[in-house]
Amino acid sequence: MSTHISVPPQLLLERILTLEIVRVTERAAVSAARLRGHGNEKAADQAAVDAMRRELNKLPIEGTVVIGEGERDEAPMLYIGEKVGMNAGPQVDIAVDPLEGTTLCAKNMPGAIATMAMADGGTLLHAPDVYMQKIAVGPGYSKGVVELDASPADNVRRLAKAKDVDASAITVLVLDRPRHSDIIQGVRSTGAAVRLITDGDVAGVIHCADPANTGVDMYIGTGGAPEGVLAAAALRCIGGQMQCRLILDSEEKRERASKMGVADPRMIYGIEEMVRGDCLFAATGVTTGSLLSGVKFRKDVIETETVVMRSVTGTVRYIKAEHRQLEKFHLD
Ligand code: FBP
Repeated sequence: MSTHISVPPQLLLERILTLEIVRVTERAAVSAARLRGHGNEKAADQAAVDAMRRELNKLPIEGTVVIGEGERDEAPMLYIGEKVGMNAGPQVDIAVDPLEGTTLCAKNMPGAIATMAMADGGTLLHAPDVYMQKIAVGPGYSKGVVELDASPADNVRRLAKAKDVDASAITVLVLDRPRHSDIIQGVRSTGAAVRLITDGDVAGVIHCADPANTGVDMYIGTGGAPEGVLAAAALRCIGGQMQCRLILDSEEKRERASKMGVADPRMIYGIEEMVRGDCLFAATGVTTGSLLSGVKFRKDVIETETVVMRSVTGTVRYIKAEHRQLEKFHLD
């Protein structure tokens, strides 16, 4: 007797979309990777944007870009509010960063990725392209174990206590920026280690979810708000905590944020406020980093590595792909 398991159509579609978004980040990564080390951040970013947009428009979705390349007048493509997809299928919110780490790509340094997230329509935070304060830790701690407004030293001690280790066993990832000198000093004052990165805090936050393998326990610092929402989508899938606050330090920024629905400019967002439902997240390596291998151009094959996550099940897949119809990566 055959057993028939009926799968709700929405779920089926989501499952299919998991693979579809891999195609999107793969294409963006390959296009950007052709310009690795050319010293031209704009050109590499544009190549990734063009490829990502082309692929998004092939998906059976009614998509709205809510985290994109910027606001409409400054971003001709993948701007916030742009409609993407075949205009058929589920209504979804889309967050994109076609090339996260433009400088890393332009200088051919480790850690550039192409990334996106997808969620039900109206469930992703609509954030303007401003800075955001962020703190993140991995799964397995009680809620509020670290807090955005606690001092870095305090947060290290709280995390060390929760892990039942000495503060010297904690490593905090921080973007290497002059604005973070107090954070770096505060962390070091406890005996904890700082790991500095030059760019790429989406991957930086994701590292916190697997301290045993990455050696990173916590992320602290100020980076882009779009990157914050993308990182929150990843942690929504794999677990962890994050607290963030938009930096709206001018009337103009407060107005832009308010137009996007931000009622309280001082609000602290947890993952559930940035990603209010289930989501998918994918990232493909452009240059090899500690999260993903970069694109490899062989004679007849292009190789990519992608991580794709789905919050409904918490499944994380690493997909190594060999692409053979190379002309497709130039044209369609
Ligand atoms: P780009 O790819 O847009 O250059 O972003 C790289 C990045 O390092 C992000 O990961 C981070 O959130 C942001 O820049 C930090 O901004 P800034 O470089 O202005 O300090």
